[in-house]
Amino acid sequence: LTTPRPLIAGNWKMFGLEASLDEARAVAAAVAQTPPAARVAICPPATLLHRMSEALSGESVSVGGQDCHAAPQGAYTGDISAPMLADAGATLVILGHSERRGSYDETCEEVSAKVLAALAAGLEPVICLGETLAQREAGQAEPIVTGQARNSLPDELAGQAFAVAYEPVWAIGTGLTPTIADIGAIHAAIRAVLVERFGEHGATVPILYGGSVKPENAAEILAVPEVGGALVGGASLKAKDFLAIIAAA
Ligand code: G3P
Repeated sequence: LTTPRPLIAGNWKMFGLEASLDEARAVAAAVAQTPPAARVAICPPATLLHRMSEALSGESVSVGGQDCHAAPQGAYTGDISAPMLADAGATLVILGHSERRGSYDETCEEVSAKVLAALAAGLEPVICLGETLAQREAGQAEPIVTGQARNSLPDELAGQAFAVAYEPVWAIGTGLTPTIADIGAIHAAIRAVLVERFGEHGATVPILYGGSVKPENAAEILAVPEVGGALVGGASLKAKDFLAIIAAA
């Protein structure tokens, strides 16, 4: 099994209107001109998914969703299913982001069910894990994150394309990041779980880092052993910043 290229994914969260598609077009144009070492994806709000996938069709920037329901369809007002994301042109989906775990009390079991739904729809899940500040200060970061990894990753991921993202909750949107040593330690612990669960395949699954990744710190973070890419929030909204991070991979 070969190690896949690093993945640099932008999570636009609830930011972006029609005009923001120009930023995505600028990213795609630059990626076409100078093909980067990394795979590139943008996960816009659901309202932009279809238009973005049309705007980027034929480009080497993938488009992804930010969440999906565990059911393929049903009476779930306000929700979006994995087949709907795929229908709108998404090829991947972020699942278990701490903003969903936090605001909607999403459990690891629910995240795991969503992963199954994503796989059934042919989407590549990007499964987020991460500890809160209180958990880190209590010395619990590693057991919390490895516990989330064990419980959020269903056995059905064996042999499938997927990625894991380590996003310490306290590093998201705060400008704070763990030390390079701490990032390395958590990524190594996640890798151990992946290998224990999925053997050789687990050794190749990209483990992204997310949380205040900026052009200024991207190269240093991406050079950490077992860091296989980045999940970028705020800095993915502007093509210039996102491209600088892509170039650092
Ligand atoms: O999913 C990415 C994210 O939570 C990190 O956000 O703004 O700290 O890069 P940000």
